[in-house]
Amino acid sequence: MDLKINGKVAVITAASAGLGKNIAHALAAEGVHVVLFARSADKLTALAQEITAKHGVRAVAVPGDMRVAADVKRLADTVNATFNGTDILVLNTGRAPNPLRATLDETEEERWQEAYQNQLWGTIQVAKEMVPQMLKKQWGRVIAITSASVKQPMPHHSLSTVFRAGVTAYMKHLANEVGSCGITVNCVAPALIDTSHRTGTAAYTPEQAEARRKLTPLGRMGEQDEVCGVVAFLASTQAGFITGSSISVDGGMIGSLL
Ligand SMILES: NC(=O)c1ccc[n+]([C@@H]2O[C@H](COP(=O)([O-])OP(=O)(O)OC[C@H]3O[C@@H](n4cnc5c(N)ncnc54)[C@H](OP(=O)(O)O)[C@@H]3O)[C@@H](O)[C@H]2O)c1
Repeated sequence: MDLKINGKVAVITAASAGLGKNIAHALAAEGVHVVLFARSADKLTALAQEITAKHGVRAVAVPGDMRVAADVKRLADTVNATFNGTDILVLNTGRAPNPLRATLDETEEERWQEAYQNQLWGTIQVAKEMVPQMLKKQWGRVIAITSASVKQPMPHHSLSTVFRAGVTAYMKHLANEVGSCGITVNCVAPALIDTSHRTGTAAYTPEQAEARRKLTPLGRMGEQDEVCGVVAFLASTQAGFITGSSISVDGGMIGSLL
C-alpha cells in the first residue's frame, strides 16, 4: 500500500539505536526525509549516511539531548532552516532507569527524576518546539512511543508506567487542541518487543524475557518491525481519521476488551 507520505519530512527522537533507528528506516523506505535526534553524534552521522545510501532520501543528524532546552531549540531551528518545518514527529525516548525494580523498592529520587526528565519532560519539550511547525503547514502527524503498561501495568515497570501515562494524557490534550488544523496525535504502546540484539544492556534478563513471553497469547516476543509498521501507518495519509488513540503492539497481552 502506498502510504502517500513520499517527500514528507519526519523528525525522530531517540533515533541513534533500537526502535528509533528502525522507525527512521521504516519512514525513509516510504520516501520520507528524516531528521535524526539523539545524543551520540557518531552513531547519528553513520545512520544518516546509511539511510541516504539505502533509501535515497535526505537524512540529517542533529546531535542533542531531549532534556536540554537549547538542544531541542537547535533541533527545531535546523528543521526549519533545512526543510521549512516538519510534517511528521515521532516522539521516541530512552528507557526508564535500569534495573527494573518493584514499586516499593523505587526509593531513590534520582531515578524518579531521571525517568521524568527522559520520558515526560523531554517529550513535552520536543512537542512544544516542533508542533508549531505543523500548525503553519496545517498538516501533521505526531506519534509518541509509550508502553502497553499504560493500559495494563507490567511487573516492575512503575518508573516507566507513571510517566508514560503522563505522555498519553499530554498527547490526548494535544490531539483535542490541534485536530482542527489537520494534525493527528496518537500513541503507539508496545510491550514485549525483542531487544536481544542489543550489544549494551538488554531490556530484560533471560528469566524476565521468558516470564514475559508467557504473558501473550502469541507466546513470543514482538519484532521491532512490528512496531515500526504501525508507526509508519499512523504517519500515513490514510490514517488521517485516527487521532487521540493509543494503539497497542503487545501480542495480545492486554486482557481487556478494548
Ligand atoms: N522493548 C519493549 O518492549 C518496549 C516496550 C515499551 C516501551 N519501550 C520503549 O521504547 C523506547 C525505545 O526502546 P529501545 O529498546 O529502542 O531503546 P534503546 O535501544 O535503549 O535506545 C534508546 C535511544 O534513546 C536515545 N536517548 C536516550 N536518552 C536520550 C536523551 N536524553 N535525549 C535524546 N536521546 C536519548 C539513545 O541514544 P543516545 O544514547 O545516542 O542519546 C537511543 O537512541 C524506550 O523508551 C523503551 O522504554 C520498549
